[in-house]
Amino acid sequence: GEAQAGRAAHAAGVPFTLSTVGICPISEVAAAAGTPPWFQLYMLRDRGAVRALLDGAWAAGCRTLVFTVDLPLPGMRLRDIRHGMAASGARPALIRAAQVLARPGWVQDVALRGQPLRFGNLTAQVPGARDLGAFKAWVDAQFDPSVTWQDIDWLRGQWQGRLLLKGILDVQDAQAAVQVGADGIVVSNHGGRQLDSVASTAAKLPAIAQAVGAQTEVLVDGGVRSGVDVFKALALGARGVLIGRPWVWALAAQGEAGVRTLLAQWQRELLLAMTLAGVTRVADIGPQHLDTD
Ligand SMILES: Cc1cc2nc3c(=O)[nH]c(=O)nc-3n(C[C@H](O)[C@H](O)[C@H](O)COP(=O)(O)O)c2cc1C
Repeated sequence: GEAQAGRAAHAAGVPFTLSTVGICPISEVAAAAGTPPWFQLYMLRDRGAVRALLDGAWAAGCRTLVFTVDLPLPGMRLRDIRHGMAASGARPALIRAAQVLARPGWVQDVALRGQPLRFGNLTAQVPGARDLGAFKAWVDAQFDPSVTWQDIDWLRGQWQGRLLLKGILDVQDAQAAVQVGADGIVVSNHGGRQLDSVASTAAKLPAIAQAVGAQTEVLVDGGVRSGVDVFKALALGARGVLIGRPWVWALAAQGEAGVRTLLAQWQRELLLAMTLAGVTRVADIGPQHLDTD
């Protein structure tokens, strides 16, 4: 899936970020897309594993690291439990079995014809893991709630490429990110899927962009669902946006073609929004285009 999405993104001229816990290894995404993806990493308790993953990404040609700093521990995610995603036991297993039986196309395409599902970037870290459960158990044990800016300083020293810190939601942290030598930040609340009642990124972005936008690249994600939303994010002060769920939905619906269609449509929508708002260059989109009275 990530290989297809990476190819579609590259064709549209935008980067694809591969998660630490993606299914395809970085080399596969790089080969499919014809260019190395950006790589996303969390701090792991095992700093040797962090270094090994950085080395692996570098060797695969990756030069942009998206380092996620907003997940010292995973959130409650009650919906995952309700849907049978995250729990063990008889009832969740039954829910999952019913979902699999209701999707013969998925069974044929992914479960029977596809490779066994695993976290492709972590095979060396979790030797002998035979199913996703074993990988997930390793990742769950690796969350490190003790991380401070000193650890991010250490990380900066380990990575000679471009470093984006993802999960910044206030001005103080944005300034600390600049201090530590990050090349950019992603204003993000992790899609709102970790902490109920967390602030929206649209609410937090303007003050952050105002404080550090001249010193570092400010990107944003969370709830961007159209080219018009991209326009609004830029007007609120971002240099660009990242997306999470939309590309996954497009991929699930139509594979690589779905992601291409999504990106092409958003590009058209952005252009149209600019035309209707009377803007000729992306760089000219700003707060003057927002009706904030
Ligand atoms: C299914 C799913 C898995 C995610 N996995 C990761 C991850 O591995 N690493 C990470 O930094 N963020 C992860 N995120 C958060 C996204 O990177 C992103 O911040 C968020 O989805 C943006 O909001 P959007 O989905 O509304 O575009 C995940 C989000 C979803 C929906």
